[in-house]
Amino acid sequence: MKRWKGCHWLLLVSVLGVLAVVGVLVYVTRRGCCPSQAPYAHAAVAADSTNCSKVGRDILQQGGSAVDAAIAAMLCSSLVHPQSVGIGGGSIYTIYQAATDRVTVINAREVAAKNLHPGMFSRCSKTVPIPGAQWIGVPGEIQGYWDAHQQFGKLPWKSLFQPAIQLARNGIEINPILKKFLEHILLKPELLKRKIGSLFYNDNGTLRKTVLYAQLAKTLETIAKQGPGAFYNGNIAQDLIKDIMNASDHQDSASNLTLEDFRQYKAVVMEPLTVSLGKYTMYTPPAPSRSAIIIFMLKILEGFNFTPKSLEKDQKVETYHRIIESLKFANGGEDKISSAKILPQLLEQFAQAARKKIDGQAHPQEYYSNISGGKESYGTSHVSVIDSEGNAVSVTSSINHPFGSMVYSESTGIILNNQLTDFCGSGNLEVAGLQPPSSMSPSILLSKDRESMMVLGASGGSMITSAIAQVITNKLWFGLNMKEAITQPRIYVAAGNVVHFEGSFDVDTKNALLQKNHSSKKPLPLPSVVQGIFREHGCIEAVSDERKKGTSAGY
Ligand SMILES: *[C@@H]1O[C@H](CO)[C@@H](O)[C@H](O)[C@H]1NC(C)=O
Ligand SMILES: *[C@@H]1O[C@H](CO)[C@@H](O)[C@H](O)[C@H]1NC(C)=O
Ligand SMILES: *[C@@H]1O[C@H](CO)[C@@H](O)[C@H](O)[C@H]1NC(C)=O
Ligand SMILES: *[C@@H]1O[C@H](CO)[C@@H](O)[C@H](O)[C@H]1NC(C)=O
Repeated sequence: MKRWKGCHWLLLVSVLGVLAVVGVLVYVTRRGCCPSQAPYAHAAVAADSTNCSKVGRDILQQGGSAVDAAIAAMLCSSLVHPQSVGIGGGSIYTIYQAATDRVTVINAREVAAKNLHPGMFSRCSKTVPIPGAQWIGVPGEIQGYWDAHQQFGKLPWKSLFQPAIQLARNGIEINPILKKFLEHILLKPELLKRKIGSLFYNDNGTLRKTVLYAQLAKTLETIAKQGPGAFYNGNIAQDLIKDIMNASDHQDSASNLTLEDFRQYKAVVMEPLTVSLGKYTMYTPPAPSRSAIIIFMLKILEGFNFTPKSLEKDQKVETYHRIIESLKFANGGEDKISSAKILPQLLEQFAQAARKKIDGQAHPQEYYSNISGGKESYGTSHVSVIDSEGNAVSVTSSINHPFGSMVYSESTGIILNNQLTDFCGSGNLEVAGLQPPSSMSPSILLSKDRESMMVLGASGGSMITSAIAQVITNKLWFGLNMKEAITQPRIYVAAGNVVHFEGSFDVDTKNALLQKNHSSKKPLPLPSVVQGIFREHGCIEAVSDERKKGTSAGY
């Protein structure tokens, strides 16, 4: 009996000793031993500007959750990149909650007016921008923040608005990216002839140095104090409707949005699409998001069993040829794949069939099916966050085309979306009260053992889905780190299967690809922009795409 007790003591002491050593090791590893390219041991934010990544990081350090940080960063983004995103737009979230090990999608996309008339779609145009009040949908942005915060927030709602209110009051210096939009030959005259012009230009038409958002600061303060009711059911909704009506006596046709449309707005909680990719499970939103296209592309590519060697000299041309061909099949099948309530198994069958048809040459368009895809638009902003509890948020938000509808509500300071243009070319135009389809594809990949996680999404309109598929391919199969995976020059296959190579794409490879009879054009004027975070064994690599000159922040 005595000997047993002694043994127990010995056992206990050694177990405690081992635990202590393990504890110290874990502490040291998490504190100081992360590689320099994945330096954060706790949490990180990748927004599309450095300032807004920092706003998100500060919220995390104050004890905020990933959702709290994402909301604060997105509010900040709407001031830094008002051409892309704002509370006059809408978002889609993919959220991972570590404690429950569940992934949730919140769809806070805009909704068309109840008495929208399909006749307006005769005014769809192939050129961007398409300004005008008739294209405005009920903004989902604030309701999305609210629903996400109600479920997953930790800090008070109010506190998430403080950084943006401060920035809006102090004014934001016009950054090089915003400047490019404001000086754009097509956008500038459109902006100048509308009320929105006074935000960005002096009376003599020269650019302001800083943008002051005094009115928006007041609106944000009201929403911070009163919650979303102020926006959907109160003075802000009334002011918005009034300003939208007044904007319509321009050459734009009128909007039929009513207060009732605002009152009835609801964000939708959805189950994500789920697909297995090697040791990972990928989660991405269902329709109205077109994310299923990403799954389709990745399922085609997975079957080629790429490795890091696939990018070496002798294989690179074949590798990129296969990628291009997959993007063409994705264009061809886009409507079929993204509109239906498609099952992952069916996607896999489609992908197999497509892969079998990929040979050494490019083919005429019918080969990839008879449906052509592709509309180009450039608004949009993406934020990826991982917090210290391992929760993750991937959220993409947009007012659609640059500066949305270009309708600026002076009484609220809000720039309104033109999201209803996304119904153009969608076939079904009886869309009153519905949400338009979207390329926004905020995604999360979790390894089955939960040791690694990738959180990513993109902006860039119709380029979004292929950009995300390429970054995932670069990371999972070519073995690149997150920075390299995002920086690697991308390919976009536009309508008519014209291949656009980014300017920095390797010339030899490109020439060899062109010999396979792909038709190509120079890159589109604005790139896709990806924000991604990868966490493995407790070390976090967070990357804001240098294409939009952002950097990430973390601790
Ligand atoms: C608004 O309603 C009017 C008449 O009810 C209709 O003629 C017009 O096309 C509608 N506008 C939009 C944008 O739906
Ligand atoms: C335009 O107006 C701004 C602000 O009033 C002024 O600073 C600038 O010198 C003016 N530029 C020209 C070319 O008149
Ligand atoms: C494409 O359309 C043509 C003519 O409508 C038809 O003959 C052909 O079978 C179609 N191809 C595919 C792949 O559906
Ligand atoms: C290359 O493409 C052109 C135009 O699409 C076509 O006429 C030609 O037959 C193709 N050549 C080959 C070798 O496939």
